[in-house]
Amino acid sequence: FPLSLPVNEPIRQYAPNDPARASLQQKLKQMANEKIEIPCIIGGQEIFTGRAFNVKMPHSHKESIARVHLASPEEIQKAANSALRAKHDWQHMPWNERAAIFLRAAELLAGPYRDILNAATMLGQSKNAYQAEIDSACELIDFLRFNAYYYQQLQKEQPLSVEGVSNSLEYRPLEGFVVAITPFNFTAIGGNLAAAPAMLGNTVVWKPSDTQVLSAYYTMKLFQEAGLPPGVINFVPADGPEFGETILSHPDLAGVHFTGSTGTFQQIWQTIGKNIDKYKTFPRLVGETGGKDFVFAHPSADWESAATGLVRGAFEYQGQKCSAASRAYLPQSLYGKIQEKIISDLSTMKMGDVRDFGCFINAVIDERSFKKISTFIEIAKASSDAKIIAGGNSKMDVGYFIEPTVIETTKPLFRTMVEEIFGPVLTIHVYDDSKLDETLRICDETSPYALTGAIFAQDRQAVEMMSKRLINAAGNFYINDKPTGATVGQQPFGGARKSGTNDKAGSHLNLFSLALSENGER
Ligand code: SER
Repeated sequence: FPLSLPVNEPIRQYAPNDPARASLQQKLKQMANEKIEIPCIIGGQEIFTGRAFNVKMPHSHKESIARVHLASPEEIQKAANSALRAKHDWQHMPWNERAAIFLRAAELLAGPYRDILNAATMLGQSKNAYQAEIDSACELIDFLRFNAYYYQQLQKEQPLSVEGVSNSLEYRPLEGFVVAITPFNFTAIGGNLAAAPAMLGNTVVWKPSDTQVLSAYYTMKLFQEAGLPPGVINFVPADGPEFGETILSHPDLAGVHFTGSTGTFQQIWQTIGKNIDKYKTFPRLVGETGGKDFVFAHPSADWESAATGLVRGAFEYQGQKCSAASRAYLPQSLYGKIQEKIISDLSTMKMGDVRDFGCFINAVIDERSFKKISTFIEIAKASSDAKIIAGGNSKMDVGYFIEPTVIETTKPLFRTMVEEIFGPVLTIHVYDDSKLDETLRICDETSPYALTGAIFAQDRQAVEMMSKRLINAAGNFYINDKPTGATVGQQPFGGARKSGTNDKAGSHLNLFSLALSENGER
């Protein structure tokens, strides 16, 4: 302290002869055989509740790798009480001592915890080594370091003082406790949703997704090992509706830090609305939700970059990033070349178990997702308005494997063009070059979401015009790049419309939303 602007954690590549690959492979082997019991961690105490279920690997779902113990409503209440008990001391600890704990966690993660969290993310969420590395190592390290820096900077902004009047602005935590409800698709999002409010002096009740519980548990262990005092973050795997009913009606609920589906976030708002008379304050609701992210290529686009952006944007992590490209608008004049490259790139990609480092494509998260995604593919197969031009097959005997699937449709409102699928399915609408204007309108108006979007164009005037036309359709708007992979500190992440409250994870904006500011005059 004082902290200088961090640099992003370098990404390890895990090339075949890299010792880092051997070390990660060894950790994968060990973790797959360990079959750990995952408890609730409330007030620093591990509680094995006995209401347990097996954690299966999505790419090998007959193999269980852990058993997780779910909290009952009674334990959920205990977690809230424990957060409230821990609040006083935590809130009054000097801010830089709180930040130092999370910076220590970042150092541990850059070192000995890296393999642990990457292996847990690979086995539990079916991410290949590279996808795990950019998430559970680099992005989480970056969230911790950048948030500490932004927190410091936030406090430097002070109101004007004039002669005889000294004004100051302080940030303090929300009154009560914060609930973090976190998704399966990014280990880093889970860690950040719990850690960011805690760094600001809040205490937290954290419910991880059932399908991310392994890496969430190791993230919690990481925070504890870095010195997080008991009760500051309470780790509570639980049944979703039971958790919601119990925690959202608590009078001391001060905020919800959420990433997940639009439907669940709407339910949270509704429940909070229903209970509004019970709370001591107005709970802050910060959420990142669904998306139907687009790629729009202009006739002047570099077709090779557009094709690469589509393949990576749509199919990395099996299309299960909330930022994943899911609908594309491509001009007739470039379509032949783009289509050929997409099909050729996909034909080289191997699908399989994460422990085979040659696999680009792994499994989708669970049976429910597998069935939902497969239903959309069947809808396309059965329709005369659509044609499958790549993939289209799936099987779940060993793992939940769905081939990267590309659908072409003449109808820009075809179901797979407008509904969120959350899987490896890209739908392309080929537009007549003369209908650019109308197609831009369709792209902007036909989705309730606005999370990410990308345009490809080389003509500068086209870039300007398209940016203006589509700017409200994406919280994160990319020009000549894929719409995924926002880097902390470079592209603060979050969307508007039905994609969330746009509080930009990994930025001072997110921290603002998790604190109260207090203006004093002397
Ligand atoms: N931040 C991730 C990305 O940009 C999505 O949550 O891909």
